Amino acid sequence: MDRSELYVFDAYGTLFDVHSAVARYSAELGPEAKRLSELWRSKQLEYTWVRTLAGVYREFDTLTAEALDTAAEICGGVTPALRSDLLKAYRQLDAFPDAAPALAALRARGARTAILSNGVPAMLDEALLSSGLSGLFDAVLSVDAIGVYKTAPAAYGLVTDRFSATPEEVVFLSSNRWDIAGAAAFGFRAVWVNRTSQPDEYAELTPRAILKTLDGLPGLIV
Ligand code: LAC
Repeated sequence: MDRSELYVFDAYGTLFDVHSAVARYSAELGPEAKRLSELWRSKQLEYTWVRTLAGVYREFDTLTAEALDTAAEICGGVTPALRSDLLKAYRQLDAFPDAAPALAALRARGARTAILSNGVPAMLDEALLSSGLSGLFDAVLSVDAIGVYKTAPAAYGLVTDRFSATPEEVVFLSSNRWDIAGAAAFGFRAVWVNRTSQPDEYAELTPRAILKTLDGLPGLIV
């Protein structure tokens, strides 16, 4: 069995900048752009948690579109053309500039790397291709395979199943503090990438380490 280091990354917010879609259309959106982007993301996540707690499933790309519609309605509406542009942009988000170098450095020393995301495989493939991160992962795992969103333990179990690993063998990285809580509860060595200097939460479900960006990851001991 392969026992080399195993690093697993959340996708949206951790590798891909979820606010880069709205940022491309900030001129058209005007002063509401930032609020629209924040609401879009928070509604998207709320929709995943409500489905999973209710024991039902609806694909992440559908939830992403529905969340945009709600956010847009709250913020005064967007034209059908802009709606379509924003959804297309969400499928081709910018990668954070620290992602590719950190992944390449880990892989150069023989570590295994993977993604565990709520995104459906087609969304992830398109974002990886357009951002240039394709080819830097041993596996791209989507909760779509089981129809249960993070933070359900079964979602994190996709990693341990795929790699025949124990949770303690997995270093899991996410910028989302709620995802770190779920990963810590599952037993992963969780590393919070606190890109936007958020306050700490989930007092009993703590990360092993906190980074500001992925730049410090190759030298990190957890
Ligand atoms: C992901 C989102 C939820 O799973 O950040 O990639």
